[in-house]
Amino acid sequence: MTPTARDGPLPAPGASVAPAAALASAVRPPGPPRAAPAAPGGITDTDFALLARIVQQESGIFLPPAKKGLVASRLTRRLRALALPDIAAYCRHLQSPAGAGERGQLVSALTTNVTRFFREDHHFDALRTEVLPPLLKAAASGRRRVRLWSAGCSSGQEAYSLAMTVLDLMPEAARHDIRILATDIDPQVLETARAGVYRDEDLAPLGAERRRRWVAPAPGRPGHGRIGDTPRALVVFAPLNLIGDWPMRGRFDVIFCRNVVIYFDAATQTRLWRRFAQILPDGGELFIGHSERISRDVLACFTSAGITRYRRTATPLPASPGTAQETPQ
Ligand SMILES: C[S@@+](CC[C@H](N)C(=O)[O-])C[C@H]1O[C@@H](n2cnc3c(N)ncnc32)[C@H](O)[C@@H]1O
Repeated sequence: MTPTARDGPLPAPGASVAPAAALASAVRPPGPPRAAPAAPGGITDTDFALLARIVQQESGIFLPPAKKGLVASRLTRRLRALALPDIAAYCRHLQSPAGAGERGQLVSALTTNVTRFFREDHHFDALRTEVLPPLLKAAASGRRRVRLWSAGCSSGQEAYSLAMTVLDLMPEAARHDIRILATDIDPQVLETARAGVYRDEDLAPLGAERRRRWVAPAPGRPGHGRIGDTPRALVVFAPLNLIGDWPMRGRFDVIFCRNVVIYFDAATQTRLWRRFAQILPDGGELFIGHSERISRDVLACFTSAGITRYRRTATPLPASPGTAQETPQ
């Protein structure tokens, strides 16, 4: 994966970090030390439970106890940035009034952002050969708009792969009402996505022809390329928490939500599948990750269109358990 702001020693520009001295006093324990301290660099069960609860509330990401070591190592940079001695102090900071803004940083530190250009390329083949041609034809004739969504776009490779697939078929696509929305909960990866500068080895899956057409030199960055203006013109990056409110109006013809829900618990996954089903028109397509599965009840309003590829049918969304009425928009 292309390095993101996460790989730098400091938090993202603009992130508010309290002065170290003020923080140290804010998090100093009021009473005697806890009975069962963690090993140095380690994490107690109580602290892990607190962190897992906050992360699940904020993002839907489920952290099983087996991830304790991973959580501890991912938080090392946050401890350094906040000048905190250990995870126990970090947990006290999170619960203090001064720590309210830290919840987002915690989620950013614990998201898995692995991605690459044209990942699972059979999905892009299906787009190019089956899904996009009729949509682009209708857009070219001015009969309709076309909307694609990369939900959980990480550092942008998926969204730019979508843009290049559109452009392979229609180089003048930006002149029509064709757009790709690319969203993620993590502002740090969105910064990388907007910059659109990637290492040569990360750009390799594009192949020589796409690289020549759609990637420009990155000034002052030898060994890197910058996504060109034409693919950029098709993509809008925005922060969005998939378990929060969705401000978008209108439906999406194609949704890519791949390798995102795998980190959610089953109930959160089901709620998300239901929301995708509501925002896809009849015939709209949902592409998911190779190890993900749509919940059985929601599957009733999709038909399988290929490997981890689902087409919305006209079947109404079944009522969700405990919901009096819920109808597709
Ligand atoms: C493994 S990456 C997948 C990237 C890309 N879709 C792919 O398949 O290559 C998962 C992304 O989901 C994002 N994510 C996790 N929870 C999220 C949430 N609640 N709302 C939006 N994005 C979320 C993470 O920040 C991360 O960038």
